[in-house]
Amino acid sequence: MASLGVNIDHIANVRQARLASEPDPVQMAFLAELGGADGITVHLREDRRHIQDRDLKLLRATIKSRLNLEMAATEEMLSIALKIKPEMVTIVPERREEITTEGGLEVSGNKKSLKEIIRKLNSEGIETSLFIDPIQSQIEASREVGAGWIELHTGCYANATWRNKASELAVIQEGVIRARTLGLRVNAGHGLTYQNVEPIASIKEIEELNIGHAIVARSIAIGLVEAVKEMKDLIKNPRLHF
Ligand code: PXP
Repeated sequence: MASLGVNIDHIANVRQARLASEPDPVQMAFLAELGGADGITVHLREDRRHIQDRDLKLLRATIKSRLNLEMAATEEMLSIALKIKPEMVTIVPERREEITTEGGLEVSGNKKSLKEIIRKLNSEGIETSLFIDPIQSQIEASREVGAGWIELHTGCYANATWRNKASELAVIQEGVIRARTLGLRVNAGHGLTYQNVEPIASIKEIEELNIGHAIVARSIAIGLVEAVKEMKDLIKNPRLHF
């Protein structure tokens, strides 16, 4: 069974919308672990639009599961990762204007710099994964630059309609086989939901699924009734009299 890495970036997105102190992704990581998360995933973006440096430090100090840091392949991020020492770094492409990570990493065109970053991370005992599209050239290039892991981008599968769902699933399955043949360990993620996760979870060679948006969205759906009830109760029966 694949383990579950819960991506908590969206919790930080809500906090940053108000520049407030809640909801705190650090506290919510504790709840995600209570729910069974095997790992906590965060993307520290160059523009710090959601996760902050403070979150990363506190998560490192408090979570009991594994910390997976998604980051761009930059000098700044490398030096943060070497200080924080997450269990895993997942290198992702990053464009400032994008809403979320779009395509996978272009590994074949950046072999020299990626090789160097992976070497530095691995020498500090940090497992390194490359977030790539499930295509042969990127999988092979990942092996060549010395990555132990890849995370296959499931976005095309997730966005597929009934017409091409089966063929997009087959692309992921073939990618997994190719990666395993080369000795790479495989994670997957992006766009996975309660409706589409099962076929991906059934690919037994995939070791971890990283899921964020669907879980955070669902937590609002199942938590909202209770949250409104609590507020109504306080309005109706204030616990203190002012
Ligand atoms: N994996 C990677 C590399 C990502 O960048 C993201 C989104 O931050 C995810 C997984 C999770 O995607 P989603 O939020 O669509 O579940």
